[in-house]
Amino acid sequence: MLCKTICPLSESFAAEVINTMEVLERHLNETKTKKDYRQVLWMYDFWGCLTESKAAKIVLNLANLKDGSEILEVACGTGEMLKKILEQNPNGKNVGVDLSPDMLRKANKKLNKQSNKNFELHEGNVLQLNFSDNSFDLLINNYMVDLMPSEYFDKIANEFFRVLKPNGNVVISTFSFGTKNIHKFWYWLAKRFPKLLTGCRPVQFKQFLINAGFKIENDIEISQNTFPSQIIKAKKI
Ligand SMILES: C[S@@+](CC[C@H](N)C(=O)[O-])C[C@H]1O[C@@H](n2cnc3c(N)ncnc32)[C@H](O)[C@@H]1O
Repeated sequence: MLCKTICPLSESFAAEVINTMEVLERHLNETKTKKDYRQVLWMYDFWGCLTESKAAKIVLNLANLKDGSEILEVACGTGEMLKKILEQNPNGKNVGVDLSPDMLRKANKKLNKQSNKNFELHEGNVLQLNFSDNSFDLLINNYMVDLMPSEYFDKIANEFFRVLKPNGNVVISTFSFGTKNIHKFWYWLAKRFPKLLTGCRPVQFKQFLINAGFKIENDIEISQNTFPSQIIKAKKI
């Protein structure tokens, strides 16, 4: 019985993954994204602990926060990263934006438990950030590009570039293709069962940052419990 279940899966895996590894198509649907994140809200931090917390530590290290900075986190989710930003930038400006009001509500609750309330949360869309040009020293964005349709990657990179000050940095982590065979399992999962991963799939965003005018400073590939991620730091020059 188990063999019967596993065999078709392994055939499908070989046919769909070993042979083709291209960026999977996704469509823009804000209502669906909001609904998806409402549904996974209860377990999101647990998922993050298992698969994304290692990348988050590297992002923070690369960000090299200086107190007094103006920092924007796009797609701040439940506020895990923003909490750490706030600890290291108590006297600066700490702004989080997310599309999902439910994720923001959780972030707000979490951040309000901190003694330092020097943060702002805004509902908003990465495709049209509601900030002036040259506003921030640092922009952080974790695991959001991987759920956006690839035809918007240019626009996203351009928005990041626009809101950063000259010499400002972007540090970003994404679900990646990985380097080992085991990583292909995640590509297969994203292809066959997109809902399980709220539509996230492996992407390659580096070239879009370069096209927007960024200079790549670090490009790191990691995996956590087999889940592959890429972390990139780039400077607006
Ligand atoms: C996979 S979660 C990552 C959350 C957080 N960055 C983290 O690493 O824990 C993706 C987040 O992107 C947000 N998001 C999706 N589409 C967005 C958009 N167009 N603009 C801003 N945020 C968006 C979702 O609401 C969700 O909070």
